[in-house]
Amino acid sequence: MGESTPAPALFGRHFLEVTDFNAEQLMRLLRLAEYLKVQGRGEQRTLLRDRTLAMLFEKPSLRTRVSFEVAMTQLGGDVLFAQGQEFMVGTRETPEDAARTLSRYVDAIVIRTHEHEPLQRFARAASVPVINALSSRAHPCQALADVLTIREKFGEIAGLRIAYVGDARNNVAASLAEAAITLGATVQFACPPTHRPSESYLAKLDALGERSGGSARAFANAVRAVRGADVVYTDVWTSMGEERYRERNDAMLRPYAVTEELFGYARPTAVFMHCLPAHRGEETVAAVIDGPRSVVFDQAENRMHAQKALLLALLTELKGIPV
Ligand code: CP
Repeated sequence: MGESTPAPALFGRHFLEVTDFNAEQLMRLLRLAEYLKVQGRGEQRTLLRDRTLAMLFEKPSLRTRVSFEVAMTQLGGDVLFAQGQEFMVGTRETPEDAARTLSRYVDAIVIRTHEHEPLQRFARAASVPVINALSSRAHPCQALADVLTIREKFGEIAGLRIAYVGDARNNVAASLAEAAITLGATVQFACPPTHRPSESYLAKLDALGERSGGSARAFANAVRAVRGADVVYTDVWTSMGEERYRERNDAMLRPYAVTEELFGYARPTAVFMHCLPAHRGEETVAAVIDGPRSVVFDQAENRMHAQKALLLALLTELKGIPV
């Protein structure tokens, strides 16, 4: 991986999907997050002074909301938060009009929404950075924290084998796979045919790994996907907004629960990951998620460090920061 490549600029960019950034840009964000994580908080409190972040959430959130708010506050900036009916992309006015208006008030905009396309329209019209805090297609901020956590645990991402077990077509799976494969990991999905990524999407993932050696495979047999894995990752069976499919998902995904038995097929050094919130007794069990090899709360903490790096990189030219 090109760690010595001159760092390409991230200043002023949007972050709607992991693929908005290349491997070098992702690595720069990870190194910056690692630097900020160990740096004293006192040294950070003027980095985004006089900057305002708008956070517009159409869906509930604990981690994303609080980690962005704390990140921005610790960097010395201000945050305003609107949720539910106060802000719905494209409902009271076009996404373009809302984006142009908000760009006159604030320095960056974080949006959690339903469909991805109105978010893309919003970002195209905005003149300040727009960050996707979860859409139907992607959860790139989660993926940044995920690869930060994996790098923290293993030192390197390239060459690792990551098993993603469950709904392999959801936004968390997609963004994790895009980030991990871009950085050289192999991602093995374990899922029933109803929740399997399309062949064209698997080919797109393979193409992302062309330079790094990363690749994607999908297995109907969970043991085949998990055997020898370094990381076993799962998520809730029914994503927000998909509640009408809950009964079908429960039935189809039951054989893909990450139990102690299934986790036992991974390497003895393997870690368990979950973006949270989790449902013990469904996609996993307490013995795994609360067990000694679970890193789910490191992941949750790393949301804040990764998003600090993202905010700094999009809002400044990183002058004086030695990464
Ligand atoms: N993982 C995640 O995005 O958590 P929240 O929905 O609580 O923000």
